[in-house]
Amino acid sequence: MQTPSSHIIVRTPVIDSIGELYATRGLGKKTVLLFDENTRKLFGDAIIESMQRQGFRTVELVVPARETSKSVSTAWKLYGQMIEADVDRSWNLVCAGGGVVGDLGGYIAASYYRGIPVVQLPTTLLAMTDSSIGGKVAINHPLGKNLIGYFHMPELVLIDPALLRTLPSREIYGGLSEVVKYGFIADREFFDLLAAHWSEIVRLEEPWLSKAVSRSAFIKADVVEKDFRETTGLRATLNFGHTFAHGLEKMAEYRNLRHGEAVTIGMVCALFLSHRLGFLAEAELREGLALLARFRFPRGLVRKRFLSLDRDELVESMLSDKKKIDRQLRFVLLDRIGHAFLHDHDIANETVLQAIDDAKGWFEEKKQG
Ligand SMILES: NC(=O)c1ccc[n+]([C@@H]2O[C@H](COP(=O)([O-])OP(=O)(O)OC[C@H]3O[C@@H](n4cnc5c(N)ncnc54)[C@H](O)[C@@H]3O)[C@@H](O)[C@H]2O)c1
Ligand SMILES: [Zn+2]
Repeated sequence: MQTPSSHIIVRTPVIDSIGELYATRGLGKKTVLLFDENTRKLFGDAIIESMQRQGFRTVELVVPARETSKSVSTAWKLYGQMIEADVDRSWNLVCAGGGVVGDLGGYIAASYYRGIPVVQLPTTLLAMTDSSIGGKVAINHPLGKNLIGYFHMPELVLIDPALLRTLPSREIYGGLSEVVKYGFIADREFFDLLAAHWSEIVRLEEPWLSKAVSRSAFIKADVVEKDFRETTGLRATLNFGHTFAHGLEKMAEYRNLRHGEAVTIGMVCALFLSHRLGFLAEAELREGLALLARFRFPRGLVRKRFLSLDRDELVESMLSDKKKIDRQLRFVLLDRIGHAFLHDHDIANETVLQAIDDAKGWFEEKKQG
């Protein structure tokens, strides 16, 4: 039986079984490999050698390691390189990198020759637990991020948590914010596991790292399968903390604030909002905050990117997000740790502002404590 996650493989070293895994999905051994400059340097030779040993024919493409690679001009250039290498519909494409490579490669695979299969080989914690799963692929438009894209499900998601050893700690915490999110929205037991083994996970120790990665990936796959096109509100719960986060990212002009950092701050706000509206009990609020207190931010970041902001401006910035409907903010709230719901009735602006104040007060107190 095909389960929602049967195409997700968590294994070290996963690349050495890529041939067998391809066979299980009926995929051919002609593969375009997309890297960014960093992942090419770190893992390129090993990946290409292993695949060639297993009888693959490969063509490699490399893009600069930055968000601006998710552009129509980069895609256009890569299409050209593929045409020149005689890549046709019988080929497939592997995205070997973080979310930038995954989104760009997925976009190219979805459109090239009207669509070729895509395989995700994520190398950041965010990509392993979030962006490589669920089939949303996109490039950016100057007027907004991720606006031009497709739903293109990966044939396989090949996750090797050992690849995270070279990832800077700031990127680890960034990914962990989505990992913790899954505990909050869907799985109390997982939340407890994260709280109990936080230090090991941050140090990338096994078996805790693999448990955290695979549980996250499976929760996302499950939610996505039940609500693929975001119609029932279930997939929207993946946006816990994100209404606040998008406002913060926008105010920082998407610079000097990682998405995961914004989401961590956003989840603190969302916990307080859930409590203020009477959905989340005080004890659960405290427990949730205790786990979020273990995140580390670069020095001065919370002050600069959150505490010093005017709260009305923050709400205004949240309202300008693309996910608004009739300028009404939609929040994902918790009624307990392990269960989220989409609250789309009106919430008084004042209550949102108070939740922001609660969160600010908590960060201030934490710093002194
Ligand atoms: N499609 C989705 O559902 C979805 C969901 C969330 C985010 N995203 C997208 O994901 C992107 C962010 O992804 P990201 O956080 O992975 O960023 P990223 O792809 O920019 O990677 C971060 C940095 O880490 C480097 N890197 C990658 N793997 C490494 C490794 N193992 N060791 C050392 N360095 C490594 C990269 O070269 C890059 O410099 C954004 O464009 C966002 O829009 C998509
Ligand atoms: Zn996110």
